[in-house]
Amino acid sequence: MTQTAIAVNGAANAAPRKILVLGATSGIAEATCRIWASRGDSLFLVARNPEKLAAVAADLRARGASFVETAVADLDDTDAHPALLAHAVNSLAGLDVAYLAHGVLGDQTRAEQDFNTAAHILYTNLMAPVSLLTWLANFFVQRHAGTIAVLSSVAGDRGRKSNYVYGSSKAGLSAFLAGLRNRVDREGVTVLTIKPGPTKTAMTSGMKGSEKFADVNAVAKSIVAAIDKRVDNLYVPFQWQPIMFVIRHIPERVFKKLNL
Ligand SMILES: NC(=O)c1ccc[n+]([C@@H]2O[C@H](COP(=O)([O-])OP(=O)(O)OC[C@H]3O[C@@H](n4cnc5c(N)ncnc54)[C@H](OP(=O)(O)O)[C@@H]3O)[C@@H](O)[C@H]2O)c1
Repeated sequence: MTQTAIAVNGAANAAPRKILVLGATSGIAEATCRIWASRGDSLFLVARNPEKLAAVAADLRARGASFVETAVADLDDTDAHPALLAHAVNSLAGLDVAYLAHGVLGDQTRAEQDFNTAAHILYTNLMAPVSLLTWLANFFVQRHAGTIAVLSSVAGDRGRKSNYVYGSSKAGLSAFLAGLRNRVDREGVTVLTIKPGPTKTAMTSGMKGSEKFADVNAVAKSIVAAIDKRVDNLYVPFQWQPIMFVIRHIPERVFKKLNL
């Protein structure tokens, strides 16, 4: 499918599926999983905070998920990824969808002064996903089936002074996903790049104007529908597609004077 952006309302009803969620305690991931649980899908949840993970798993079981298993992991530990992913596939007895949701906003002001802060943001948001995606893509290619859905961000579409370290991690991630899609689409594997605009979750709760950000349940509904429809790219809410088109095309001589 070559569709580049859609406004999706309502998920198509699909057969129960086996879904791996990396960063399952993320606000967006949790809201997405609630929809999957209510339609009886099987879920393998990975997160680094055991208490939060146990609470999310219990909630999803109560909502009707046909199977919920968990693993506690800091996803910065890339050496542990192959064993973690193999364990998830064994537990689910297969895999239809891999959903990558973990990420950090980081401290932009500190990252401007301190390379280690910047490197940490880039590692968590780009290097760790590259490690996960390499394993997952090769797994799905061998089976000529599967969907990889990844939370990138509109912030990756153009670097801005207020968040260019986070933005560059997402730009790298979006470019990696575009190339990966170009490689694996012909093998029957779908790669969905999800670019949310500002959404109400723990990540954005301290931001100015956050009460006006997108509702996480509406964002999750669009994500579920895009995965069902095997879309390539999703801006969510959909108005971020034209907004980012305009932002990407502002001439540099103008853009560099703006306070964005
Ligand atoms: N909210 C937005 O406006 C927005 C917009 C565009 C893109 N996104 C992207 O959407 C994704 C989900 O974000 P969110 O809004 O749902 O924020 P969130 O609720 O803060 O979720 C981020 C999640 O990432 C987890 N995480 C961070 N580093 C990790 C690590 N090393 N290992 C394992 N888990 C780790 C966090 O775990 P802990 O809870 O243990 O810290 C948390 O569960 C992120 O990739 C974010 O960049 C969000």
